[in-house]
Amino acid sequence: MAIREIIEIPDPRLKQVSAPVTEFDEELKALVADMFETMYDAPGIGLAAIQVGVPLRVLVIDLQPEDPDAEPEACDHDGHHHHHQPTKREPQIFINPVLSDPSEEHSVYNEGCLSVPEIYAEVERPARVRVQWQDLDGNHHDEVMEDIMATCIQHEIDHLEGIVFIDHLSRLKRQMALKKLEKLRKAA
Ligand code: NI
Repeated sequence: MAIREIIEIPDPRLKQVSAPVTEFDEELKALVADMFETMYDAPGIGLAAIQVGVPLRVLVIDLQPEDPDAEPEACDHDGHHHHHQPTKREPQIFINPVLSDPSEEHSVYNEGCLSVPEIYAEVERPARVRVQWQDLDGNHHDEVMEDIMATCIQHEIDHLEGIVFIDHLSRLKRQMALKKLEKLRKAA
């Protein structure tokens, strides 16, 4: 396993439409393993393959938050950081995911994205969606998702179509977000 580089806007690859997975092989398993390692390291709760530069319809998600009871990261006497692991990981893999039956009801979440670092904005999306997908062995799954999972899977599937969350904002808000990102990058 290896941590891969996460590409950021305005990298043109993020506008690419990703291709369906047809080979459920060892290479795919290695990609997914790397994607989880990259996502946990970032850290983030979702990652699309194109965010590590691979234009395939592959998503990984783990909504499990950090352990709320864990102490804040502290230095030990050697000056090394202790990284607190989440209490229990819930890795979920979506290959060739397809959305359908969006609910009329919408919900709004404050979204962020590893490819749009440090920018957060409220995005309105259908509150429930049906998702059909395949797992690493090519088996088919079909589920209705709601709450933050519905938002997260829609955000990630957007990546497969070359869409990032700030594309859902008004022109003004998107420009403000891009300006803020530019400022942060200059300061870094
Ligand atoms: Ni994203």
